[in-house]
Amino acid sequence: MNFSLSSKAIVSTKADCLVIGLPEKGTWPESTTQADDALGGLIKTLQKNGDISGKNATTRSVPLSDQPWSRLLVVGTGKDSERTPAAYRKALIALVGALKDGPSKLALVTLADTAVTGADAVSSEEARLNLIGRTLEEQLYTFTDYKSEKPTARKLNKVLVTASASGKALKDAFNLGLATGRGMNFTRDLGNTPPNICHPEWLAQQAKKLAKDHDCIKTEVFDEKQMEKMGMNTILAVGKGSTQPPRLIVMEYRGGNPKDKPQVLVGKGITFDTGGISLKPGAGMDEMKYDMGGSASVFGAMQVLAETKPKINVVAVIAAAENMPDGGACRPGDIVTTLSGQTVEILNTDAEGRLVLCDALTYVKKFDPAAVIDMATLTGACIVALGHHATGLLANNDELANELLAAGERADDRAWRLPLWDDYQSQLDSNFADMQNIGDRSAGTITAACFLSRFAKEYRWAHLDIAGTAWQSGKAKGASGRPVPLLVDYLMSHAGK
Ligand code: BES
Ligand code: MN
Ligand code: ZN
Repeated sequence: MNFSLSSKAIVSTKADCLVIGLPEKGTWPESTTQADDALGGLIKTLQKNGDISGKNATTRSVPLSDQPWSRLLVVGTGKDSERTPAAYRKALIALVGALKDGPSKLALVTLADTAVTGADAVSSEEARLNLIGRTLEEQLYTFTDYKSEKPTARKLNKVLVTASASGKALKDAFNLGLATGRGMNFTRDLGNTPPNICHPEWLAQQAKKLAKDHDCIKTEVFDEKQMEKMGMNTILAVGKGSTQPPRLIVMEYRGGNPKDKPQVLVGKGITFDTGGISLKPGAGMDEMKYDMGGSASVFGAMQVLAETKPKINVVAVIAAAENMPDGGACRPGDIVTTLSGQTVEILNTDAEGRLVLCDALTYVKKFDPAAVIDMATLTGACIVALGHHATGLLANNDELANELLAAGERADDRAWRLPLWDDYQSQLDSNFADMQNIGDRSAGTITAACFLSRFAKEYRWAHLDIAGTAWQSGKAKGASGRPVPLLVDYLMSHAGK
């Protein structure tokens, strides 16, 4: 698929399909007016007669003759006053949905001139081109690696996106959007890969491949023996029940000033979570192949950095293990000494995510981080609290939390903050060790974060619980690529100019 920007007048640009945005209420974008003039008032007539309403995310294809375009695709963009980044992206998703299996080879998309409400950061043409680029890449994603019969190729092979000028800022924004979409798709590929293939060492190989493909990425992998020497006993404890040994994967992108402290990303990389001896029920257990979703999003973000080369330093650490029940597995009641020296009584082996993350959070201190953000499919409770729309956010620093919330808003990859008050900490009191790895039945997402917070005291830290957002279940089962857009937006806002 070929995506490019064009600042040529639409009336002198041939295409199989001209795509325009039509507000339900509000000011028409310039290209919609231009198209309507060229078509002798056709769009006005269609709207007047009720053939098209402009209701957000509706689409209507109209055949044309004797025009530079073989057909017109009208995309409803709703009311001007209600067009948030999320609403705008809904319209973009509908647009790609209407194009992707249709007859057009070349589409000319004009929606970058549709106004979006909100602050400058979301209402600029740059922001819209970014969202268009991302949505194009990401909505055309398919995963057919394991199908014997590949689906027939799409007719659509080129999308031209109109921009008001040919400037570098507009191009960069569009390219960042495309890279973000590709980063999401990389994240999805990793998540969708079956767990008999995607095990900790396979993840380590992906990190080495990323370093091989991009000079700006350096990868280092620690095996179980090295982790033992370092004292990463909780990662090791989780991996003990599996024939696939755990790995600690470190990737570094240093595009900033050598003196700038790095942003550090930490990912939960449980390549399959059976629950261990605290075995999960069987129904839907296959979806626990997505329990490495946090690490997959770290990979996606690193690929975006490698492709766009912003001036920033980022270190990524992935704690990879498989949580299986066998004779070597850790038991409920086991006590282990973490890398930090604090002891943990493992009362439930299914609360393994926090166990692998705690050693990683201790390890990253050595990078003297500007901030640490961990991503994890950590608790089923987060799905109960927030459903599948918002990622759970917990943090020991308000400024960092607010930045991440704003990034999620701009990128239409939203998070919602939950409290991390000390009141919850006592749920982790253990009779035998410094702490236990589970609380009572209440506030499961918060007590999990409370556990992590004990290893993240020395730096600004935020935790993203992506249990409800990293993948979809049911008929559309598949990895979502979240929270790559949030992460990329956040990181770019910290990059030097
Ligand atoms: N990976 C799971 C969390 C999860 C479950 C994510 C379902 C998405 C869907 C995690 O390792 C886990 O099992 N958490 C337990 C914690 C409990 C034992 C305190 C949970 O949420 O039930
Ligand atoms: Mn678990
Ligand atoms: Zn898990």
